Amino acid sequence: MKTQVAIIGAGPSGLLLGQLLHRKGIDNVIIEQRSEEYVLGRIRAGVLEQGMVDLLREAGVDERMDREGQVHEGFHLSFDNRLARVDLKQYSGGKTVMVYGQTEVTKDLMDARKAAGAQSVYEAEDVALHGIDTDTPTVTFVKNGEKVTLECDYIAGCDGYHGISRKTAPKDVLKTHERIYPFGWLGVLSDTPPVDEELIYANHERGFALCSMRSSTRSRYYIQVELDEKVEDWSDERFWEELKRRLPEDVAARLVTGPSIEKSIAPLRSFVAEPMKFGRMFLVGDAAHIVPPTGAKGLNLAASDVYTLYHAMIAAYHDGKPELLDKYSDIALRRIWKAERFSWWMTSMMHKFDENTFNQKMQLAELDYFTGSEAGLTVIAENYVGLPYEKVE
Ligand code: APR
Ligand code: PHB
Repeated sequence: MKTQVAIIGAGPSGLLLGQLLHRKGIDNVIIEQRSEEYVLGRIRAGVLEQGMVDLLREAGVDERMDREGQVHEGFHLSFDNRLARVDLKQYSGGKTVMVYGQTEVTKDLMDARKAAGAQSVYEAEDVALHGIDTDTPTVTFVKNGEKVTLECDYIAGCDGYHGISRKTAPKDVLKTHERIYPFGWLGVLSDTPPVDEELIYANHERGFALCSMRSSTRSRYYIQVELDEKVEDWSDERFWEELKRRLPEDVAARLVTGPSIEKSIAPLRSFVAEPMKFGRMFLVGDAAHIVPPTGAKGLNLAASDVYTLYHAMIAAYHDGKPELLDKYSDIALRRIWKAERFSWWMTSMMHKFDENTFNQKMQLAELDYFTGSEAGLTVIAENYVGLPYEKVE
């Protein structure tokens, strides 16, 4: 088998990159270790920055998003038993975000890839990368019991945090930076109308809570829990009671509860691997970095990596400038570190870290200050809608 770009992983990073390259006539094959159904079964993020929305349009997957997605012009921060609104549109020079689930984005991209006739291999076993520091890298895998070798010009490692690509990078070059937070998020998906038209991020003395949504009839809620909590110990009833206690009274009073259709606990982590290019192999998305979900940045950072690599690939294949591929890592990392900072800051300001009342008062003063100042609201809004994408030149 032979292609121009071998893409490892059919998450949002791999599928979006594959679709964009395909539309520019750059041949690519996606190698994914799981089945399509498994990939689509994962419940993940739900807030898309405008830059990602624009990129999905460029990939030709905007039809259902425009029909079913919701444009949000603001969100709320809850603290001290009150709500403060962050007007995204007003404080970011007119930008907004789109509430549309990662699961839906993934499905749209899979459908578009099939319609385009681009090749994907699902349920590939023993995926391995070879010769990344040569001009003739290859990917090997086992499909239906047979070993296959895929020859390519470049490899895009879009295989997430647990993937094989980062592990293939030379140990003496790869540097990693990590912070693990002392709590997790317990998330519930339910077919109930959202408690509010906009998202609510709540700082509370019992711990953080988030009210989000997937549609006007489907809600996504989260509460901060201890790392050793077990999902089995959280009945729906216990979850709803705890969520209500962390919201302002009037909000809690109008919360509509119902049976959960998904319930899971996720740890919170900040992680960056650098550089993101090793010879002819590039790390993209979760393969290179993780953010705690408090800033809604994980999926969006994957999209900005894809934007950068896509434009560098166009430069290499169409403009005769392969040297621009060398800039991928530096350009991507500049934006990644700023999103890491915002995600870390939002996490620090919104969660309960300990019983120290001074620390809690500092969080409240910070929230009161930032939401009461034009400069503060601008800082939150411009980061939340997404910092600009840097041109590849
Ligand atoms: N070989 C092939 N595929 C692999 C391998 C491997 N060795 N290891 C992992 N994969 C696949 C996974 O099964 C998964 O489908 O790579 C894919 C990686 O997808 P994601 O983890 O979703 O990562 P990414 O595409 O970068 O998406 C960015 O945004 O909301 C956040 O973390 C969230 O998934 C999200 C991410
Ligand atoms: C979600 O809807 O799953 C969601 C929304 C905003 C976040 C994190 C998760 O910051």
